[in-house]
Parts: sequence; C-alpha cells; structure tokens
Amino acid sequence: MLRWGIIGCGKIANHFANDLKLVAGHHLQAVASRSAEKADAFATEHQASSAYGSYISLLEDSEVDVVYIATPHNSHMEWAITGMQHGKHVLCEKPLAVNSSQAEAMVAASRTYKVFLMEALWSRFNPSIKAAKQKCDEGELGEILHLYSEFSFQSNHPATSRLLNIDLAGGALLDVGIYPVFLSYLLMGYPEDIKVVAELGPTGVDVQASISLRYAASQASLFCGLKCDVENHSVISGTKGRIIIPQRWHEAQGYIEKKVGSEDVIHTLPTLGRGYTYEIEEVGNCISKGWLESPDWSHKDSLQVGRILDELRRQVGLVYPFE
Ligand SMILES: NC(=O)c1ccc[n+]([C@@H]2O[C@H](COP(=O)([O-])OP(=O)(O)OC[C@H]3O[C@@H](n4cnc5c(N)ncnc54)[C@H](OP(=O)(O)O)[C@@H]3O)[C@@H](O)[C@H]2O)c1
Repeated sequence: MLRWGIIGCGKIANHFANDLKLVAGHHLQAVASRSAEKADAFATEHQASSAYGSYISLLEDSEVDVVYIATPHNSHMEWAITGMQHGKHVLCEKPLAVNSSQAEAMVAASRTYKVFLMEALWSRFNPSIKAAKQKCDEGELGEILHLYSEFSFQSNHPATSRLLNIDLAGGALLDVGIYPVFLSYLLMGYPEDIKVVAELGPTGVDVQASISLRYAASQASLFCGLKCDVENHSVISGTKGRIIIPQRWHEAQGYIEKKVGSEDVIHTLPTLGRGYTYEIEEVGNCISKGWLESPDWSHKDSLQVGRILDELRRQVGLVYPFE
C-alpha cells in the first residue's frame, strides 16, 4: 500500500484525490492545507487518515510515503525539495518548476536523497496519447511533418487568481501552454528553433501566445491562452495520414485515425476516472522498482520542456518578480 500525502487542498487536489480512490494499492494517508479547517474538510471528504494545518507537519509524518504537490507554480520547488529532504517521494504538479534552474535543483535533490521525483504531466499517461505516440513511433503516419496543438479557455478569474497572478508565476505559457509544448516534445523531441508571439495582460503575465517550433523536417504550430475558448484539439500530420485528438485533447477519451487510402478509424479509449489514475499507477510502479524517475516522463523530459518554456518566456519578456 502506497501512502499518499497531498499538499494544497485546491481544485486539482480534489480531482486527484477522487482518482486516487480508483487505483488499488494506493491510500490517501494525509492532507495539508494552510488552513486546518480546510484540511479537515478535505480529509473528511476524501477519507484521509490525517489532516494538517501546515505543509511541514505533513512532511514530518512518517506514515506518508509519497507527496503530491498541488500548490501554485512559485512554490513547487520549495515543497518538493523540502519533501525530498524529509525522505518523501514526490509527484509535483506541472510545470515541475517555474524555470529550468529550479527544476535542476529539484532533480539534484531526488538524486541526493534517493527518492522518486516526477512532474505530474498526466497527459503523458493518457491511453489515447500513448496510443498516438506509439503509432507515430511505429511509422503508421509515415514521416511526421506537422503538429497543430492548442489549449486555451476563456478565463473569468480575477487578477489576483493563481492563473493571472505574476507573484504566483501565473500566465498562459506555464499553466496551459506546457501541454502543447509537451506534445510537440513527446512526438518530435527538442526543437531546432523556437519562436513565439504573445500578449501580456494587465497583471504582467502572458494571456495568449502563438508558438512555432521548427524541427529538421517538421514543424509545430501551438497556441495557448486564457482569453478565449478554442477547439482544444491536436492534429498530427504525416506523409501517410493524420491523427486527430479531439477536445479536450490533453485529457483525451479517444482519437481519430485518417490514413491515406483507408476509411477513418475512430478509437474510443475512455479514461478510468478523470485520467489522473494513470500517473498514480506510474508513480506506484516506479517506486516499487526503486526507480528515482519514470522512464516515460523522466527528469530529462521535464528539464527539456522547462528549457523550451524558459526560451518562450525570454522571447516574451516575462520575468517573474522573484526570479
Ligand atoms: N494536471 C491538471 O489537470 C491540472 C489542472 C489544473 C491545475 N494544475 C496545476 O495544479 C497546481 C494547482 O492548481 P489548482 O488549479 O489546483 O489551483 P488552486 O485551486 O488555486 O489550488 C492551489 C492550492 O495551493 C495552495 N496554495 C499555497 N499557497 C498559495 C497561494 N499563495 N495562493 C493560492 N493558493 C496557495 C492552496 O491550498 P491550501 O489553501 O489548502 O493551502 C490552494 O488551494 C498548479 O501547478 C497547476 O498548474 C494541474
């Protein structure tokens, strides 16, 4: 039985706790909030064994094996490293860190304290995305020539919200842009050239961005934003056909295969729960084997995606006040 602790009782923590109940061999041992009342309510709702009114108290609980960090971006490094110093394995929400130098410090801590660390890039473990990657790797689409991928929604959040707050490392690129960047990296690797045009909003963070990535023989056209609803689909195009991952592609429930000269094939692959179940299984599997990282979403993968995001923010001119 792997005993989980959750740090930060917000929106995603709630979804994660629901999915945790669906995976055998995993138990919600403890939850921590900055507010004891909030932690108590969350623990009651999700049948956690302990509730703490401070994050450090959870990290000092010897009955917690692995910590899921579900706090705003600016605090990922602090709580991940503190957790690892306390001997906890860590699953940290995306992006792993605000920038790649923070991410490097987190990876170094994983190696120093010999504990597992993974960025919670759950889409990597989504059955449709895994299948699409496998088809691409096996040459089913021929040579990949282009990826279109987008993630944008009309946010009605106040300026102080996590999404728009510059002090919490908000903005479209780190919050939603990471997903299309991840897909491009997953399918085609680290790009040879990176270009972006973006709009900075009134709080100083980017509110939408159009990204072009160039590879040796292919390109990616990516879009992310917090201003408008879009289709939120991805299209992978190759010499022999296309794969369309329909909305919302990053939590796909299936995909469409359009091969030259063949009937379209609709693959239906519903997720177990909301789909956080697969990253939970991955963490359990890796920890049981004594691994410090996942072979499918490794430290190197997180660092490489972090470097692309660093370059995008450099071009946009977005530097967080604490950097
Ligand atoms: N994988 C996904 O599908 C997905 C979806 C959405 C977000 N995320 C990621 O998950 C993380 C959290 O996002 P969320 O949408 O769950 O955010 P949220 O609803 O605002 O929750 C974040 C939690 O962090 C804690 N926190 C600590 N310091 C804070 C501060 N200064 N201001 C506000 N909250 C603070 C709070 O918990 P306490 O009050 O209990 O301490 C808060 O409830 C981010 O890294 C985000 O990118 C992932």
